[in-house]
Amino acid sequence: MNTFNIAVLVSGNGSNLQSLMDSSAASSSNFNICCVGTNNPNANALKRIKNNDIPIISIDHSKYETREEFDKKMAEELKKFNIDLLVLAGYMRILSKEFINLFKNKIINLHPSLLPKYPGLNTHKKVLENNDAYHGATVHCVDEGLDTGSIIGYTKIKNLNYSLEELENKIHKIEHKLLPAIVSLISEGRIELQNETVLIDKGVFKNGKEFIF
Ligand code: GRF
Repeated sequence: MNTFNIAVLVSGNGSNLQSLMDSSAASSSNFNICCVGTNNPNANALKRIKNNDIPIISIDHSKYETREEFDKKMAEELKKFNIDLLVLAGYMRILSKEFINLFKNKIINLHPSLLPKYPGLNTHKKVLENNDAYHGATVHCVDEGLDTGSIIGYTKIKNLNYSLEELENKIHKIEHKLLPAIVSLISEGRIELQNETVLIDKGVFKNGKEFIF
């Protein structure tokens, strides 16, 4: 049994949760998914874990008046597990300050752009509209801003006249490699998340490390 416990938070399709489950099941894996949390009880992601022995925390955010109240409940449930790392994989919620402080330096997020370019939504559309030469995916530490925490790593691809759908699929494919690769390195103690910096194999990366697959 792997000893490094990750909790994964999801809201939607869950293809990145799938890649983490597949990666954690591999014999070389060092991490274990101790629970999956969602704010959306209807998320397709939950169907993916039906046959797996992973506890689910499903809390409908629409039943809570404030972000803080919802986050408090989610945090209470998560704290029942011994979590080493909290991975946001398509979790469509902005986290409250209190929640972030409870899991300080332990939360990472996957974002479908080359941050700091295009925080927020509709990143593929923006890349096409601006005719950008490159697009990519980024994994970063979570702070109180929108997709603003220190960048851990990214993968980029050339934008070769793709349609919106093609571009989205390309990015999903690289996300499915990038996220498990970074979670694995963290679980092996090779990435340290600090307030302002990220150390990878003891080297300081100010704008994240490029991961090439
Ligand atoms: C991914 O593109 C991720 O970068 C973003 O949300 C999407 C989630 O996709 N934060 P899925 O639910 O993992 O398929």
